[in-house]
Amino acid sequence: MAETENIAVVADVQELAQWGGRIFIEEAENAIKEKGVFYVAISGGKTPRGVFEMLGQAGSSMWEKVHLFWVDERYVPPNSELSNYALAEETFLSKINMPVENIHRVGTALDDADKAAAVYERTIRRVMKAGEKDVPVMDLVLLGMGADGHTASIFPGDAETLLSKRLVCSVKKAGEKFKRITLTPKILRHARSITVLVSGQEKSRTLAAVMAGEGDEVRYPIRVIWPVMEKVTWVVDRACVQGIERGRK
Ligand code: 6PG
Repeated sequence: MAETENIAVVADVQELAQWGGRIFIEEAENAIKEKGVFYVAISGGKTPRGVFEMLGQAGSSMWEKVHLFWVDERYVPPNSELSNYALAEETFLSKINMPVENIHRVGTALDDADKAAAVYERTIRRVMKAGEKDVPVMDLVLLGMGADGHTASIFPGDAETLLSKRLVCSVKKAGEKFKRITLTPKILRHARSITVLVSGQEKSRTLAAVMAGEGDEVRYPIRVIWPVMEKVTWVVDRACVQGIERGRK
């Protein structure tokens, strides 16, 4: 993969964590300097763990000016090992002094995930002072990519979520017992800055395919960010890139 200005190829997950943490803190400092607040939405999964652990060591006064949202959440209790909130709580929220009112966890206690999605959308609009017709602008969105090309909880074939006019939807991934809540492309693409963290050889083929322009958003939902690629920074580890290079031989 050619190194371009928006693709950082890092040695391993440790360096990926350093890069991701540094991007988060730099974006936060810039936003806070410019407007006194930083709105950020984070993903879950395995890849961002190291980034969050780095943030957990970032003792700083900035946290009172940070408003934290989730790109997606599994519809499970906040103390479930499946919960993206639980990952953030374990790795950094329990270690820093972010005001609890700045931590906007997806509520997963309602019996209806669709209602929870609507509640979360109202929360985003309220906190970000966005009107019903506005699309709130996150300062940073931290995305991952699955080996199937999904991002957030937008999975291949889910045209309904891709085309949704809402900011937040509930989805059901085939084979999972739980539903998920996800931000939609509508709000993801409006972010000022998007960072995609990709690690592991198992994602090489998909990364090579999307970078080569193969497929569309339905086949590879990560392609929802293609129209705003100028705002995207990729942080990809060598295991993933080497998989691409091996695949080309
Ligand atoms: C989730 C995540 C998801 C994640 C990708 C990559 O809730 O599962 O938000 O979108 O970013 O699945 O996951 P890994 O980092 O575990 O490979």
